[in-house]
Amino acid sequence: MLLTEWNQILDNILPDESNEAYISDVFARPLINALGFNQQELFPQFKTGTGAVDFAARKNADTDIFISSKMNPYLLIEVKARATGAGAKINLSEGTPQYIHTKEQIKKYLLDSKCNTSHWGIITNSVHIQLLRRHGKVVFPATPSILIKKDNINAIVSHVKYLIDNPPKALTVCVYNNKGGVGKTTTTVNLAATLAQQGKRVLVIDFDPQQGDLTKSLGLQVGKISLYDCLSDRDLNIHDTVQPFTVKFKSSKSLQFDVIPADPKLGGFTEQDLATRIEKGSARLKDALKAFIYEYDYIFIDCPTNWMFFSQSSLYACDAVLIPTKHNNLASLDNAAKVIKELVPKVKAARRDGGPIALPIFFNGETITLPQLKIANQEIEAIITKEIKASKFNLLPYFYPKYGTAAKDTTIFSLPSYAIVAGAAFARIPAAFKDSTAAKYYLELAKEYFIV
Ligand SMILES: Nc1ncnc2c1ncn2[C@@H]1O[C@H](COP(=O)(O)OP(=O)(O)OP(=O)(O)O)[C@@H](O)[C@H]1O
Ligand SMILES: [Mg+2]
Repeated sequence: MLLTEWNQILDNILPDESNEAYISDVFARPLINALGFNQQELFPQFKTGTGAVDFAARKNADTDIFISSKMNPYLLIEVKARATGAGAKINLSEGTPQYIHTKEQIKKYLLDSKCNTSHWGIITNSVHIQLLRRHGKVVFPATPSILIKKDNINAIVSHVKYLIDNPPKALTVCVYNNKGGVGKTTTTVNLAATLAQQGKRVLVIDFDPQQGDLTKSLGLQVGKISLYDCLSDRDLNIHDTVQPFTVKFKSSKSLQFDVIPADPKLGGFTEQDLATRIEKGSARLKDALKAFIYEYDYIFIDCPTNWMFFSQSSLYACDAVLIPTKHNNLASLDNAAKVIKELVPKVKAARRDGGPIALPIFFNGETITLPQLKIANQEIEAIITKEIKASKFNLLPYFYPKYGTAAKDTTIFSLPSYAIVAGAAFARIPAAFKDSTAAKYYLELAKEYFIV
């Protein structure tokens, strides 16, 4: 669409009296058309399963006309008014209650039963617009909530159109807690194995070069070229760092996931060295991994505990952060809160592309008795209350994701302690590949967070 046409549209919107129906007609419809969907590929008030989203869109395929079949939507759009009747502005800038509510609304629609094929959601009131992406069970920002102006509307529309026309395949997940020994490496390797078992293409990056635990636990070595070489020299092909990890079973079936092994060379540098040797610093890993996001279903990054180059790069590169904790270790709960309220927002502010998000915490690798659970819940409630008082940051959805006004459900997913998981570090094979109970535990974890 021509800029003059957008200018006309934006000029015509009455700032204080534009209700939702009006914004839908004069702004949302032209927007969806500009994103490449014609009138037959757009359906208003689409029934998602539990509610109705303002618009759903999907390209027609031969005889499958979306407006007739009303099935398999690709993009959902939730429209809001600019102002209420009383003239109070509806503010969809990040962090406002109206924004949080609208984001939760589109998230629910994207995950609803009739929207399994949906990849994208848009929330807009013609003042702000945000694109969100859905991958399995995870919904996360693909752009920040952007303030629309005459001079950026064309750029916004082309960027959103580019993203929805070229959907990445992968969800990139960093497993992180800045408390050590909580099971980051173990979780990464077993989730990778489990998702490979589920037929997914998985890549794991061992970005903890000082320990290299993940690489060692699989008996792998640095490939044809090393990760450091690749990060410091953009002309090298990052595919040459990838090592396949394959297990052949007695049944002659084999399973594989790919690994970029830890590079000991990286481990030998100081923070200062890394900053001068790697152009773009902690933003470089994300750049390098772009080569993989159209190839793999999942990319996992294992990183060290300290908040330094490697963990900062990993959070910068990922869509979502998975945070293992221990119910009996207060530091692991406190540090999880720090990741959620401080480190993720810090990286988000630097990236300016909407990401990353923190996923709700889980308890890893301990048997939990009822009295212990009670103590853990008291600690968590204290952490939540303290943070609300100190900064108004609401940690509740990150600790108790099932907690609602109707059901005060304080369930936290718990991955049991299991000796075979601990022993697997020396077996050169992930526990989830060699033991059916371990496989079951990690499949439950994968289902809780990632796969539908
Ligand atoms: N579910 C589990 N059951 C039994 N043992 C476990 C489980 N999860 C992790 N462990 C064990 O706990 C120890 C710490 O795990 P791991 O090395 O994965 O933690 P980490 O967070 O990566 O540590 P680091 O901070 O050193 O990188 C290991 O010995 C591992 O085998
Ligand atoms: Mg580790």
